[in-house]
Amino acid sequence: MSPEPLRYTPAASRVTMTQIVMPVHTNGAGGVLFGGVVMQWIDVCAGVSAMRHAGGSVVTASIDRLDFMSPIRLGDVVLLEAQVNYAANTSMEVGCRVETEDPRTRVRRYTTKAYLTFVAVDDCGRPRHVSPLEVETNEDRRRYQEAAERRAGRLRAVGRAP
Ligand SMILES: CC(C)(COP(=O)(O)OP(=O)(O)OC[C@H]1O[C@@H](n2cnc3c(N)ncnc32)[C@H](O)[C@@H]1OP(=O)(O)O)[C@@H](O)C(=O)NCCC(=O)NCCS
Repeated sequence: MSPEPLRYTPAASRVTMTQIVMPVHTNGAGGVLFGGVVMQWIDVCAGVSAMRHAGGSVVTASIDRLDFMSPIRLGDVVLLEAQVNYAANTSMEVGCRVETEDPRTRVRRYTTKAYLTFVAVDDCGRPRHVSPLEVETNEDRRRYQEAAERRAGRLRAVGRAP
């Protein structure tokens, strides 16, 4: 029996990652997590999502602004969820949402979200084509449209507008 063909939907690219905040992750100021540690977790979670869509290696081309809405503290459980919102020729926009969960009550708190652009690369580090994104749901279509607008703004900002 031949294996199921691979799908290239946002859902197929979805990655969830869970972390617990340990002393080494905090800045000593009241046990608050370093912003740079969250950024690293976001880059890994979103990067794996992009790799899944690209079917191979990717590099981070850009990360849009990050705003931290609430502090993450020592002992907190941190949940990250990422998926591909948009695929262009060689690049993809991945959205990553970060929440904390109180293990006693399971109450979740929204902390931040980020949009990252990854470029699929070959073994020599040259950009290579990725599959078009198969948008299925209305939510997929909304995210795709919004990501297309963000991409245009991003490329204008770095002087790459057509
Ligand atoms: C990302 C990189 C591969 C792009 O190389 P390049 O020579 O500019 O390649 P191209 O001009 O063909 O562009 C490739 C894609 O990158 C996108 N891109 C390039 N710079 C970008 C930026 N600053 N923001 C968003 N997208 C960008 C282009 O829009 C293009 O996308 P498309 O093919 O889907 O339209 C190259 O700049 C690189 O290797 N950067 C370092 C990556 C890295 O080391 N990341 C880790 C950070 S320490």
